[in-house]
Amino acid sequence: MHDPEPVTLPRFLTSPSPGWTAEADVLVVGSGIAGLTCALRLREHVDRVLLVTKTGLSAGSTTWAQGGIAAALAPEDSPAEHLEDTLVAGVGLCDEAAVEVLVTEGPSRVHELIALGARFDTDATGEITLTREGGHHRDRIAHAGGDATGAEISRALIAQLEAVRADPGIEIIENALVVDLLTSEEGRVCGASVHVIGEGEVDGVGAARARAVVLATGGLGQIYSSTTNPPVATGDGMAAALRAGAALADLEFVQFHPTVLHLGQGASGQQPLVSEAVRGEGAVLVDADGEAFMAGVHPMADLAPRDVVARAILERMAATGTDHVYLDARHLGGDFLEERFPTIVARCRELGIDPVSQPIPVAPAQHYASGGVRTDLRGRTSLPGLYACGEVSCTGVHGANRLASNSLLEGLVFAHRIAEDLVTRLADGQLPPTDPSGEGSDALLDARHRAEVQETMTRGVGPLRSGESTAQALASLAALAQTMEPDAEPGPGSWETTNLLHLGRALTTGAHLREESRGGHVRRDHPDRDDEGWSAHLVHVRDPHDPTGEVAVIMLDTDLARTP
Ligand code: SIN
Repeated sequence: MHDPEPVTLPRFLTSPSPGWTAEADVLVVGSGIAGLTCALRLREHVDRVLLVTKTGLSAGSTTWAQGGIAAALAPEDSPAEHLEDTLVAGVGLCDEAAVEVLVTEGPSRVHELIALGARFDTDATGEITLTREGGHHRDRIAHAGGDATGAEISRALIAQLEAVRADPGIEIIENALVVDLLTSEEGRVCGASVHVIGEGEVDGVGAARARAVVLATGGLGQIYSSTTNPPVATGDGMAAALRAGAALADLEFVQFHPTVLHLGQGASGQQPLVSEAVRGEGAVLVDADGEAFMAGVHPMADLAPRDVVARAILERMAATGTDHVYLDARHLGGDFLEERFPTIVARCRELGIDPVSQPIPVAPAQHYASGGVRTDLRGRTSLPGLYACGEVSCTGVHGANRLASNSLLEGLVFAHRIAEDLVTRLADGQLPPTDPSGEGSDALLDARHRAEVQETMTRGVGPLRSGESTAQALASLAALAQTMEPDAEPGPGSWETTNLLHLGRALTTGAHLREESRGGHVRRDHPDRDDEGWSAHLVHVRDPHDPTGEVAVIMLDTDLARTP
């Protein structure tokens, strides 16, 4: 296999010059569990926090999380067992120190979330009811509203934010899309250019300047034709970080959720999720002939880690010549299903499927980016002044495959760590205000090409890949990059589409180079895990001082101490 042509990226997207300026000590970008937690914590100690979010405060992926939040809350459970399950799911590529942080700090952070107003489901004695999901050997998933955990967490955090909206120490700007990161001459991140669809003073592109920036912009699911991610998940923060020179890692490890409601060939955009918790409560995957097939595949059967289940479904689909399998929950009974999974049952019924009387058609679809902007244990990235938290980040806790329901916990735990680190640094006089420097622009990919990017990614870098499929995808994406029109209108549509292209090229390069199968990265032509050759991370870095804009791909051994 030849190494692919290096990808070159511009430093900035074409955009109008800033027409307004906002100033803060810390700019937090994003309003999921990570961004809201971080902003609320920072506000307690930092004079000026600016929170910007792409559309409404609750429009991101957190709100859509069904299953729950994993933490060793039960007396018979322990952080050590949670650690073990996380490491196994991550297939040798987790950073154990990061996982240790996650599982040991997780339980108290969940209790703090409860104290703050989040209402988790409880039993008759008032104890939190815990369920199980794939890869967990214990019941350790706390849930809310049955299958509306993310919506409840989001509600509770937004209520906290609304309570302090009048506080001059925190400013919130909605409908604000981050375009690019601003950096000083010495390469320190000192804000972001942000496009606001607003009225009055803050409208159009402006410069949000700050001593530090926390990216909490979520994932990149819209890079594929179908995904469980909401429409806002176009990887804007990740792409901006890549262009600015931050190190991104593990991009090839894309998690495909095994049980996404199958709405027929060609269904595109955000698809309804059927939570893994449904299997946690006893539902079983069956093929078109009604045969349960997971028992022979893995000792944990239907509750094997997510990558194992997704792969088994794809194999069963290929063997039976179908494009979906079924999740049979009928034996759980109507009363139980309606109470425990009200959102899923209602959504299925809206779409003409009644889980009480019918098996639910399901197939794998994109769900989560296990990689992202590489951070250390304090959430610091490789760029001074830039932090990353939540799905946009790669803290090392997920490795090659995220353990179910670890993502809300990761956002929560690392948001606290980032706030703590920033409070100390700002109080010490570190990260003094500085001016942005540099400008430039490049052609944009017009929004009408978005479906081509998504179809290319789906065909070439989907749940099953090969050297050939990734090479074809790289060639198609490079051709799209060549056809970028200098006069494409700058605006949310072309910025998002260009972000998808930029990230798609980096992700596909990683998927092409990694000649093995592991976690969320499955190569037909290299079906086995190869620890000799590939116990390593692929790190993508664009050197901001290199005028060619080439993105270097570095293979980083897992034995090396983690630095961002
Ligand atoms: C699910 O409910 O199956 C999704 C939970 C997760 O992605 O962790």
